[in-house]
Amino acid sequence: LPQQGSDDPTSSIIRKTLMGYVGFASLPNQVRTKSVRKGFQFTAMVVGESGLGKSTLINTLFNTQLYPPKEQLPPSAERPQTVAIESISADIEENGVRLKLTVVDTPGFGDFVNNDGSWKPIVENIESRFDSYLEQENRVNRQKIIDNRVHACLYFIQPTGHSLKQIDIEFMRQLHTRVNLIPVIAKADTLTDDEVVEFKARILADIAHHQIQIFQAPTYENEDEESLAEAEEIASKIPFAVVGSNQLVKIPDGRDVRGRAYPWGVVEVDNEDHCDFVKLRQMLVRTYMEELREYTNDVLYENWRTDKLLSMGVVQDQSVFKEINPASRMQEERVMHEAKLAKMEAEMKMVFQQKVQEKEAKLKQSEEELYARHREMKDALEKQRLDLEDKKRRIESGRPLTPDRPNQTKKKGGFLRS
Ligand code: GTP
Repeated sequence: LPQQGSDDPTSSIIRKTLMGYVGFASLPNQVRTKSVRKGFQFTAMVVGESGLGKSTLINTLFNTQLYPPKEQLPPSAERPQTVAIESISADIEENGVRLKLTVVDTPGFGDFVNNDGSWKPIVENIESRFDSYLEQENRVNRQKIIDNRVHACLYFIQPTGHSLKQIDIEFMRQLHTRVNLIPVIAKADTLTDDEVVEFKARILADIAHHQIQIFQAPTYENEDEESLAEAEEIASKIPFAVVGSNQLVKIPDGRDVRGRAYPWGVVEVDNEDHCDFVKLRQMLVRTYMEELREYTNDVLYENWRTDKLLSMGVVQDQSVFKEINPASRMQEERVMHEAKLAKMEAEMKMVFQQKVQEKEAKLKQSEEELYARHREMKDALEKQRLDLEDKKRRIESGRPLTPDRPNQTKKKGGFLRS
């Protein structure tokens, strides 16, 4: 069995090679090369009632057996129930990009008659990780900071098809200010497609009603159509209806796929028509890993740090507070950015108008010139016509033609006009 530490993430590192493509290799597109060189640290936590498939989904998610596969367990053994907060780390590499992944598995709750306060050890675990980060930040040598903070928390919801349970609401309310909450509907293979749609709507309504903050994918201005479509698609799937399994099963076309076999057919984990597992993984490791890390650092951790300093009686000068309060700083930056954009737009409009005016003046001038030329040519032609008519008349009347200016009277001598 891989060694699983109780709560010290560094004590339980196992090295794994991936069994298939995950997708985090596209991370360099999200971040600077420095992070690529150093590798990424990402910690995900799974929380939810017991037996909802949290450990199974961890294995499914990273396509690697972080947990021992069932075949390696003693014959009679089911996967053991998680009884303490465990963290498992794996160094995985894809296309030369290293990811140090840590998964924090929490014991399922809800088994007792009184489940009050069962969220406490989980919140304490999250905060102790913040503590450890703060302690490293305060060291003189801040070169090698190990980031064990929880960047994403998958919250498993029992597939009841009803509304959220009181215990879920309580848990999420305790967690949402400390972690990026990502709600998932567990064992979605037990619900029909219509039930999933209705259940999702009810969950979202409950989340909004209880003002629970779940992770919102950021949208950027000037984003290309493809990224916008991807962001919309991911957002439309929340809460993700997932199915977990690393078992390969044969489907009628002969392929072996990861899924769960039933007498009436196979529910495929990686088939987007069957569940939202692919979208969840895409969000976590491909599209928003960097955003999850950033939000954890800039907002969740900073808010916690401010609360902690205030509770310790460290009163900060308002300007300093503003300086370190990322939420107000981000808001200020946004306002400034918008003002800058508005100014640029006004300037561009002015330049554009000026250019249009100049062009119009030029066009008018050349129109006038053309008109004058046209008039000149018309006059010249008219003169020519008159001359020719005069010539014609003279020829017809048998009078001699003047050599050059036939229709004008010569002042001194020469021909006289008749
Ligand atoms: P605790 O450790 O008690 O918190 O349980 P857990 O949430 O980690 O659940 P675990 O992964 O141990 O799975 C519990 C049982 O559910 C196992 O028998 C799994 O095979 C089964 N299971 C896991 N995922 C799914 C799923 O998506 N659908 C169905 N139908 N069963 C699942």
